Amino acid sequence: MTSQTAGGPLVQLTGVNKWFGDLHVLQDIDLGIDRGEVVVVIGPSGSGKSTLCRTINRLESIQQGEISIDGEKLPEEGKALARLRSDVGMVFQSFNLFAHKTILQNVTLAPTRVRRQSKAQAEQRARELLERVGVSAQADKYPAQLSGGQQQRVAIARALAMDPKVMLFDEPTSALDPEMINEVLDVMVGLARDGMTMIVVTHEMGFARKAANRVVFMDGGRIVEAADPETFFTAPRSDRARDFLSKILNH
Ligand SMILES: Nc1ncnc2c1ncn2[C@@H]1O[C@H](COP(=O)(O)OP(=O)(O)OP(=O)(O)O)[C@@H](O)[C@H]1O
Ligand SMILES: [Mg+2]
Repeated sequence: MTSQTAGGPLVQLTGVNKWFGDLHVLQDIDLGIDRGEVVVVIGPSGSGKSTLCRTINRLESIQQGEISIDGEKLPEEGKALARLRSDVGMVFQSFNLFAHKTILQNVTLAPTRVRRQSKAQAEQRARELLERVGVSAQADKYPAQLSGGQQQRVAIARALAMDPKVMLFDEPTSALDPEMINEVLDVMVGLARDGMTMIVVTHEMGFARKAANRVVFMDGGRIVEAADPETFFTAPRSDRARDFLSKILNH
C-alpha cells in the first residue's frame, strides 16, 4: 500500500486524558498503531475500551493530549473533522443498519451523499463489498430479513465503502448468537490479512491469536500492558492482566 505520509504510525495517541465529570476515564494514553497493524484491546467492563475507540473518531472529545490520523491532528469540528472522521470506519456491537433501506442502499448511502459518488459507481462497489463479506445474495432485502451475523457483515461492508484508512470494531460479535460469531470473525481475519489497519475491542481470544499483532490490556482507564498475543496470553506481566485472563479463559 502507498501513502503520501508513509513513515510514522497511522494512528497516534499521545498523552491522551479524558474525564466524564469526576471520572478520569482515559489516563495518559500513549498508543501508536502502524499501517496494517491489528491491535486487539481487552480489559474489564468500564476500563475505557469503548471510550478509547470513540475518541479516535471524535465521537467523544478529549481534554488533554493529541490524536492524529495519518499524520494529521484530529480537528475539533467542521469540514476537516468530517473528512478525517470518514477515514475511520467503525463497527459497533449493534449493527445500526437503516431499517427502511435495503442492504444495497445501506452500503451506498454514505458514498453517494458524503463522497458524491454516482449511484452506478457506488452500487458497483457495494456489490463487490457485499460479495467480499459473503452476503451478496441479500442485496435487495431489508435488514430485518437477515440474521444478526449477516447484518453485522453488512455493517462491515458499509464501513468499508468509505475506503477508511483504519477500521475500529467495538465488540462486533458480542450481540451475536454463538453460531454466527465465526462468520463475522472470518471476515475480520480476511480484512486483517489484506492489510487493513484495525483496532478491535473483543474478548474473542481466538481472533486475537489468529489476527492480532498486538494485544493492549486496559484497566481503570490506563493501558496496563501491551504485548504480542503469544507473550500476552502465555506470560502476562501484571497481576491485573493475569487475573482478567483467568476469568475470561475459564468459562
Ligand atoms: N457518556 C458517558 N458519561 C459518563 N460516564 C461514561 C460515559 N460513557 C462511559 N462512561 C463511563 O466511563 C467508563 C468507561 O466506559 P467504557 O464504555 O469506555 O468502558 P468499556 O471498557 O468499553 O466497558 P464494557 O466492557 O462494559 O463495554 C465507565 O465507568 C462508564 O460508566
Ligand atoms: Mg465497551
